[in-house]
Amino acid sequence: MINLIHNRREFLKFMGRTSGAALSTGFVAQFLTACSSLPQKINPMLPFAPLKPSFADDLSLVEGLNYRTLLMWNTYLNKRGDAFGYNNDYTAFIPISANDALLWVNHEYPSPFFINGINPTDVKTKAHVDKERKAVGGSIVRIKRNNINEPWGFILNDPQNRRLDGTTRIPFVGGKVLGSTHAIGTLGNCAGGVTSWRTILTCEENYDNYYGEVSYDDSGERKLDTSVSVYKWQEHYPLPPEHYGWVVEVNPMNGQAKKHLALGRFAHECATTTLAADGRTVVYMGDDKDDECVYKFISKKKGSLEEGDLYVANLELGEWVLLNRDKNAILTSAFKNQTEMLIQTRKAAKLVGGTALHRPEDVEIDPQTKAIFVAQTNHIPKGDMHGSILKIVEEGNNPLSLKFTSSIFMTGGPQASFTCPDNFVFDKKGNLWMTTDISEKYMGNKDYAFHGNNALYYIPMSGPAAGQALRVATAPVDAELTGPSFDADFKTLFLSVQHPGASTVRKDGKVTSHWPKGGNSQPSPAVVTIRGPLLDKLMI
Ligand code: FEO
Ligand code: CA
Ligand code: CA
Repeated sequence: MINLIHNRREFLKFMGRTSGAALSTGFVAQFLTACSSLPQKINPMLPFAPLKPSFADDLSLVEGLNYRTLLMWNTYLNKRGDAFGYNNDYTAFIPISANDALLWVNHEYPSPFFINGINPTDVKTKAHVDKERKAVGGSIVRIKRNNINEPWGFILNDPQNRRLDGTTRIPFVGGKVLGSTHAIGTLGNCAGGVTSWRTILTCEENYDNYYGEVSYDDSGERKLDTSVSVYKWQEHYPLPPEHYGWVVEVNPMNGQAKKHLALGRFAHECATTTLAADGRTVVYMGDDKDDECVYKFISKKKGSLEEGDLYVANLELGEWVLLNRDKNAILTSAFKNQTEMLIQTRKAAKLVGGTALHRPEDVEIDPQTKAIFVAQTNHIPKGDMHGSILKIVEEGNNPLSLKFTSSIFMTGGPQASFTCPDNFVFDKKGNLWMTTDISEKYMGNKDYAFHGNNALYYIPMSGPAAGQALRVATAPVDAELTGPSFDADFKTLFLSVQHPGASTVRKDGKVTSHWPKGGNSQPSPAVVTIRGPLLDKLMI
């Protein structure tokens, strides 16, 4: 069979004509392993020859791109003794002048093993928890370059360098939560967004992993469940789970932050903003959990997210359904007030017909067509191993519209080369860059072997290769590539390499990755800058 199929494209055409049942995924993996040793033909229809899948413990890049490590976990930032946090995720570039900028970086979650040298099930001392609380949140760092042709470098001890973490006091806006005007810390900071007034939106995703979760019965009685807490911080700091799961707005110039009640509480993956014609801000948000929803928020005023209307998507009806406790009889009878409803946004969304999706993660808006792309990573319990990209088109391409149409833009799997879509960014030319999120638990198993490690793809949105996912980078062992963003002139792609070596904890401490330092070093999450002639060519 290998003699008959000369390259990957022909193989994929062959796959398209073959029933899924006829080929086991094990066969696919074996076939691609065999393919990777064959000389690769460059398809003249493609802008470059995509990288082949691999399980190498490296950040591998397609020819024409190169990377430098910009920041690693524990990099010393300033004279206050702040250090770069763990598991870098979302990045956002805030220009100050042509060669001077701030970079915001999310730090999503800690690793008890690499931070404290303990196993996840070990009892934690207060000192262990204290170190973990300092490892999450976000970093603001000053970066500069000599000129447009030089790489960005981090400025040690710059007064703008600062951290927000699991101990930072952050006020709520839009109401009190359990009588409190503020929360202690931000955590689970996954993806995010940038507002038109140059503030950062950092999203608290898997908040229940830290202090547990609460549920409320029909009489409104609160029940705390700490069994779902992974990091068990509540054993030393019994803080209320209701204080987490919000969108946090940060001014990168001074570090001031606020948690917005109006944007709801759930496992916020992202908060992608656009401006309506009348100057109000619209924010699109995914809730990364099986069977959860996509939301949209329309601000009441220009330049502020403190008030506005929250909607959930009903894909069957093609409608954004308002989540206002006082304007919907179902919500009026279910919740005592709007704050109580916002704390239980998921429950409200289901009550009014929000469509259950397959882990809606990142959302990005096509700058040319204004279509909205939503990554649905997967739904493993329902057998959706590879996920898809959902496309939403607002009526009249108007972000204020409450009607839309939706369709599946791409479906993951061997036929499409990619799996488990997660983060998106559009480039200067309107082409889509996409990272994948195969959990390290499943990486390399029968469903995912075809893919090798996690990867970064370039998806042309027009031209002969439109709609094809072309691999440009492959992650080190166990890692996920997250938070892609460009600088203002698209000479540099910032990318987070998150959780390299994460399965070490399940392998009796045998370190599974040595990235980025190599040798026998311990792995470390890091933010890299990617540049090179291929990136320059793709932006012309
Ligand atoms: Fe933190 Fe849904 O990825
Ligand atoms: Ca993500
Ligand atoms: Ca993810």
